[in-house]
Amino acid sequence: MEIAGKVVVVTGAGSGIGRELALRAHREGAAHVAVADLDEAAAQITASMIGVGARAFKCDVSVEHDIIRLVRETESQAGPIDLFCSNAGIISVDPDFDNAASAPDAVWARSWAVHVMAHVYAARAVLPGMIERRSGWLLNTVSAAGLLSQIGSATYSTTKHAAIGFAESLAIAHKDHGIGVSVLCPQGVKTGMTMGGFFAGADVDGVLTAEQCVDAAIEGLRAGAFVILPHPKVADYVKLKAENYDRWIGGMVKLRRRVVQARAAFLDQEARK
Ligand SMILES: NC(=O)c1ccc[n+]([C@@H]2O[C@H](COP(=O)([O-])OP(=O)(O)OC[C@H]3O[C@@H](n4cnc5c(N)ncnc54)[C@H](O)[C@@H]3O)[C@@H](O)[C@H]2O)c1
Repeated sequence: MEIAGKVVVVTGAGSGIGRELALRAHREGAAHVAVADLDEAAAQITASMIGVGARAFKCDVSVEHDIIRLVRETESQAGPIDLFCSNAGIISVDPDFDNAASAPDAVWARSWAVHVMAHVYAARAVLPGMIERRSGWLLNTVSAAGLLSQIGSATYSTTKHAAIGFAESLAIAHKDHGIGVSVLCPQGVKTGMTMGGFFAGADVDGVLTAEQCVDAAIEGLRAGAFVILPHPKVADYVKLKAENYDRWIGGMVKLRRRVVQARAAFLDQEARK
């Protein structure tokens, strides 16, 4: 898909990858960019960086009513939505790093709501119009963790896997309606999500800037790809996983040991500050 002349919505657009997606959509010639974030002030900053042709929304993607309002108000102002980028995301480290089931129910529920139900609500709101028009695109920011895993966050890994599952259903069900679906699956990207706390001490391999991640997203949309991998080596890891699941788990166990060591060194350093 080409963005020029299109009406685009980006959630989680107050920061990181979402802000860059919104700015890039504008640079690609989008007719209108709706910039949505839980953090209204941050959304307003992104919208003001774009200027005319952008509107900021306060929107909690885990609340269906907020998504419906975002879609209705964008469509009444700018016309039918061509590209909905469901990008907002959150991460939390397992509270007991040595227990993958240690996150409380509230953290599981929040991750499910933001990483899965938000994509369902977006699709539910835009699909009827897209089906009628026989056109439209859903770009869901997932993560390489949805294809592989995220050491130290079972909530993130599990809900990002579920996000891939939902996107597959969308792609299979709606190809014949003329609707495209893509999942953006980066590994490390330098954003607010990765610059603080645990990740500051983590050995994140091949970190990209948000701009580089979005370059890959735009290229993937242009090619009509379902899976967009800003880090191409993720395709090799997925292949290894599919070829021999047990060997892949073994490799991840070794990687986790290194992460545990790096985390201990990081926490020790923090404690000395
Ligand atoms: N940064 C990475 O390394 C990385 C890697 C893979 C995938 N991702 C995914 O990329 C997406 C964007 O993350 P980012 O790295 O730009 O992080 P970020 O923290 O910089 O941006 C996330 C934005 O989402 C917003 N947000 C959070 N919860 C929300 C909600 N309920 N409703 C609306 N907005 C909400 C935040 O306010 C923030 O502006 C996420 O889905 C994340 O899981 C990030």
